[in-house]
Amino acid sequence: MGLISELESLAGELESALGQAVSLPEVEELRIAFMGRKGRLAELMASLREAPAEDRPAIGQKANAVKLAISGMLEDRIAVLRAQSAGREDFFDPSLPGRRPPAGSLHPITLVLNEICSIFEGLGYEVVSGPEAETDFHNFAALNFPANHPARDMQDTLYIADEVLLRTHTSPMQVRSMLERKKPPLAVIAPGKVYRRDSDITHSPMFHQVEGLLVGKDVSLADLRGTLAYLVRKLFGAEARVRFRPSFFPFTEPSAEVDVTCIICRGAGETAGEPCRVCKGSGWLEILGSGMVDPNVFKAVGFDEDCAGFAFGMGVERIAMLKYGIGDLRLFFENDMRLLAQF
Ligand code: PHE
Repeated sequence: MGLISELESLAGELESALGQAVSLPEVEELRIAFMGRKGRLAELMASLREAPAEDRPAIGQKANAVKLAISGMLEDRIAVLRAQSAGREDFFDPSLPGRRPPAGSLHPITLVLNEICSIFEGLGYEVVSGPEAETDFHNFAALNFPANHPARDMQDTLYIADEVLLRTHTSPMQVRSMLERKKPPLAVIAPGKVYRRDSDITHSPMFHQVEGLLVGKDVSLADLRGTLAYLVRKLFGAEARVRFRPSFFPFTEPSAEVDVTCIICRGAGETAGEPCRVCKGSGWLEILGSGMVDPNVFKAVGFDEDCAGFAFGMGVERIAMLKYGIGDLRLFFENDMRLLAQF
């Protein structure tokens, strides 16, 4: 029965050793010496194999009891030492697990902006940016909006001074890029904030757009269509299709609004026999405006009139709502951690 008494004396030995231990590292050393993989308890358990078969259950029971007792003793001692040191500034407990700093994540709008930019960078476009406070020239005049023409009312403009305004779209970056480059070819993508005097469930006075502009020699509407078809497949999946609807913008001719197949009903117009609520039964969702650059814009920036190009501009919030199934635009700007932490 040597093993049982040895087990019993183990607990006593630890008790007196713990009485001497005045720091947490010392307690940790004792824990390893007694309970570690090669510790005293493990050593005794290894010799269990040599004990007579009929004694083994009793020894096993004893071993479990001793194990419980000694781990309880270790915990108690740790608790006492921690309590003693609480509030002592020079106290450093190397046995405590570290505190992980909470990790941030990118805002869903930033994620979509980054994704769109990297899709176009893959096509060789250059990402550019410019001021949010713009001149009338860049935001309107050079884009073929006639002075005092009602076309300027299409976009409820916030003015800072007579000729200075908060840009109502990213299209002034078309003007800036061409003026800077001086001649074709160029292919740029311009993400950024835009402002309009609008505020309700589906409109925010500040929102984001991404502008694209490609100018070269024989650029056609087919190139525009192919580029946008590629974009929506990358953004929404291989099944996504585009549809062009004739439209009007002063700076493009011809102009088109572009729809993508509804990502909820996949173009069917209905879900479970009911008209789809997201596309209102049409099977299509409008995501951007586009067209061939109007010759008057080339004239305003001093480009040869024999060049050709296409431009497009899309609303980022709308794309993010579709991609992530977010139903209310305002959620993007409330900064509620319960939403943001999901990205
Ligand atoms: N700037 C237009 C808007 O904000 C979109 C657009 C961009 C249309 C480029 C055509 C070409 O509605």
